[in-house]
Amino acid sequence: MRAVISAELGAAAKLAEVPTPSAGPGEVRVKVAASSLNGFDAAVISGYLAALIEHRFPVVLGRDFAGAVDQLGDGVDGFAVGDAVFGVVLTFPLHAGGFGEYVVVPAASLARVPDGLDLTTAGALGLAGAAAATVVDAIAPQPGEIVLIAGATGGVGSIAVQLAAARGAVVLATAEPGAGTQLVRRLGAHYVIDRTGDIIGQVAAIAPGGVKAAVHLAGDPFALAELIAPGGRFTTLLGVGQDQMGVHDVVALPVNADLAPAGLEDLAAQVVAGRVEVPVQRIYHLEEVPQAFADFAAGSVGKLAVRIG
Ligand SMILES: NC(=O)c1ccc[n+]([C@@H]2O[C@H](COP(=O)([O-])OP(=O)(O)OC[C@H]3O[C@@H](n4cnc5c(N)ncnc54)[C@H](OP(=O)(O)O)[C@@H]3O)[C@@H](O)[C@H]2O)c1
Repeated sequence: MRAVISAELGAAAKLAEVPTPSAGPGEVRVKVAASSLNGFDAAVISGYLAALIEHRFPVVLGRDFAGAVDQLGDGVDGFAVGDAVFGVVLTFPLHAGGFGEYVVVPAASLARVPDGLDLTTAGALGLAGAAAATVVDAIAPQPGEIVLIAGATGGVGSIAVQLAAARGAVVLATAEPGAGTQLVRRLGAHYVIDRTGDIIGQVAAIAPGGVKAAVHLAGDPFALAELIAPGGRFTTLLGVGQDQMGVHDVVALPVNADLAPAGLEDLAAQVVAGRVEVPVQRIYHLEEVPQAFADFAAGSVGKLAVRIG
């Protein structure tokens, strides 16, 4: 099958022919229709993740997938060939990915694509949506609480802005002037913090005593902690824990994305209901994925989707 891979440690994305996988016991093969780029993929290409996660090269890039069930492994019930499904490929050692014509995943990891959700959107929802829901759950914003989201213009952040605003939080979103600012405003941010300017001054003007909670998706976590009111909540997807907070009087809540199918299906339902938007900015074909990575690295906003086939 055709797939976009990283051939060896630190190797850039390239289109290649690789063996088509088969579903083993408890697994399902999906004919992939769509996927998307995530910060995770950039970290794989850079070689950064190899110290943390075992890789089996070539690694097919792309964590997200949406498509149709194509083959059922032994012992799988509850799914039939042709069912529309989506989810996140996170099997170890890292080898399989969504930037290929087929992907094999555990049946237990599959979420169903509801009526009314197109596969391109479903293929851009999985990892970013699950991560956004997890960080917003972690800080559990109360109505009226001021919440700062650092990295708000990315895939995770752009969905986290919406979920936090939907809970009634007053959302401060970091963005550069231009497309990023327009995006986070449209998605419900109450204030935009120009990340190229005086961040401390801008936040202090809105929340003189500090914000109640902050979501760390990019930038310096300790500078972010300085902006939180004493005793406030700090969550991150980047592994900064309480023990590293030192002098900062904050409650650190480091999390990883909860990828359970029930949560993915809840997000999908919110998208169909119009309560959450997956802000796909551009759609690339599989052979254009190397260019998509270049665009992602150069600074993109929202989600970059990929169509396969
Ligand atoms: N642990 C987990 O389970 C998990 C799950 C999902 C994601 N993650 C991680 O979470 C992070 C966000 O993921 P993502 O997919 O949303 O990545 P992304 O799409 O690259 O989003 C990051 C955003 O932050 C912006 N940014 C960069 N430096 C900044 C700074 N100093 N201040 C404010 N904003 C800044 C980026 O803008 P530019 O593009 O203009 O630089 C980009 O819009 C990544 O590091 C990813 O690996 C972890």
